[in-house]
Amino acid sequence: MSLVIGVPREVFAGEKRVATVPDVVEKLIKLGFKVAVESGAGELANCSDDAYRAAGAEIIDSAAKLWATSDIVFKVRGPSSEEVALICEGSTLVSFIWPAQNPELMQQLAAKKVTVLAIDALPRQLSRAQKMDALTSQAGVAGYRAVIEAANGFGRFFNGQITAAGKVPPAKVFIAGAGVAGLAAIGTAAGLGAIVRANDTRSEVADQVKSLGGEFVKVEYEEEGSGGGGYAKVMSEGFQQAQREMYAKQAREVDIIITTALIPGKPAPKLITAEMVQSMKPGSVIVDMAAEQGGNCELTEPGQAVVKHGVTIIGYTDLVSRLSRQSSTLYSNNLFRLTEELCKTKDGQINVNMEDDAIRGLTVIKDGEITWPAPAIKAPPAPAAKPAAAVAVKKASGHGHGGSSEPMSLQKMAIMFGVAAALFWLIGAHAPAAFLGHFTVFVLACFVGYMVVWNVKPALHTPLMSVTNAVSSIIAIGALVQIAPPLTGDIARPDEWIRWLAVGGIVLATINMFGGFAVTQRMLAMFRK
Ligand code: NAI
Repeated sequence: MSLVIGVPREVFAGEKRVATVPDVVEKLIKLGFKVAVESGAGELANCSDDAYRAAGAEIIDSAAKLWATSDIVFKVRGPSSEEVALICEGSTLVSFIWPAQNPELMQQLAAKKVTVLAIDALPRQLSRAQKMDALTSQAGVAGYRAVIEAANGFGRFFNGQITAAGKVPPAKVFIAGAGVAGLAAIGTAAGLGAIVRANDTRSEVADQVKSLGGEFVKVEYEEEGSGGGGYAKVMSEGFQQAQREMYAKQAREVDIIITTALIPGKPAPKLITAEMVQSMKPGSVIVDMAAEQGGNCELTEPGQAVVKHGVTIIGYTDLVSRLSRQSSTLYSNNLFRLTEELCKTKDGQINVNMEDDAIRGLTVIKDGEITWPAPAIKAPPAPAAKPAAAVAVKKASGHGHGGSSEPMSLQKMAIMFGVAAALFWLIGAHAPAAFLGHFTVFVLACFVGYMVVWNVKPALHTPLMSVTNAVSSIIAIGALVQIAPPLTGDIARPDEWIRWLAVGGIVLATINMFGGFAVTQRMLAMFRK
């Protein structure tokens, strides 16, 4: 019997997202599940009941019926007390839960003997988990929307323009905190043509800021801000003082500030003081994305847009809901990827495998038993550990020479070079002179090719293949030689059919050459900003 996945209408005030969009309903059905959707669940994300019906879902007219028929419930926000009362014993709930902040909800759910997968508890450091990472997908949407809100509240263009009516300077945008949301905001603001600067306590993000078209502004104080797991830590008083000075300078210069700074489990750091707001040009905009966690700006009013000292301060806490169609689509895809992991057999059944690091991390309640927090994931062994282990094994088996792997590899290299030199000498002594010339070129070509490919990032290997393919059309020269008239009378003119073959060769090589370069260009364009 296939399990039923139920998608209720979100009840949290102002929440416009839906946990599953019609496209994903189809995919879930292909995995063997039945899908039930509460009537009107997708209305605020532009997904009509009819669209769900067309995708194969059953529309259910009341929340109570929906919860009663669902074996698995997909939600965005954690359930309200009324919803907890409706949940069936033994069922599975997948949604945002924030277990650390909601101990009461955890107790209520555990009492219902359910299994709860908290999408916010996903171990984000696992690369396998990235496709399920709803925190990232939603933060990206919020970062984008923050820039749109800033543009809406700002009275000028973002890009610089020179028009007959006058010269317009580009807007200057400062982004505080370059995590997922901050980076999305940098990319969006740069895309609109603004001059973008950003700062973060984690110095490792500097390159990411640059790659998105921003400038990384450093705090003149030596202290690393990484608190582990890719997150920030609370900085020393000395650092904070230096940071305040830098932020005060930026506030005087820029038109828009977007703040995204958060520290897990702590209130948002206060980065923009009332004096800084006062020092900004009239008409400037601040978007405080940390408003829900107390705000990065002293004057932010969560959920509101207010004007203080001539500066619009936007503290909306529903940025993601303001792009509900987009955020619902990305969230649904995250849940679909999770479902694939839970249902590897594609038969409409799920297996909450506690041996799997990603699933273990997500599972905060298993059959009524609180399993949160998950034990820390063991870091993979350092790469250097491997050769050492190999040497130890060799030693134990009696084949080791010397105490370290260093002399071994040198020895191996010497043997390899010796064999290669002997082979070369052998070929040189017996092969015709012309062969040796060609062979030397071949060996050098292999060497150069190897060095080139190894120095290109793996992500760029496809365009590299395409450009080498285009370059390989140099064989056209061979064909040209065949159709060209002989330079001296000694060289016989090739047969007519060879010349026609050469013409065909040139045509094909030309297509390859121009096509190759054109495709390379298009591929590289995808990597450029
Ligand atoms: P977040 O929402 O907790 O914090 C936002 C940003 O604010 C962070 O970059 C943080 O360093 C910065 N911040 C904190 N205090 C600050 C201060 N006083 N001044 C300036 N900046 C401050 O973080 P988010 O966006 O959820 O992700 C944090 C990091 O985790 C990102 O670098 C992201 O790339 C990484 N991550 C890694 C994943 C992986 O390894 N697969 C998956 C998801 C995220």
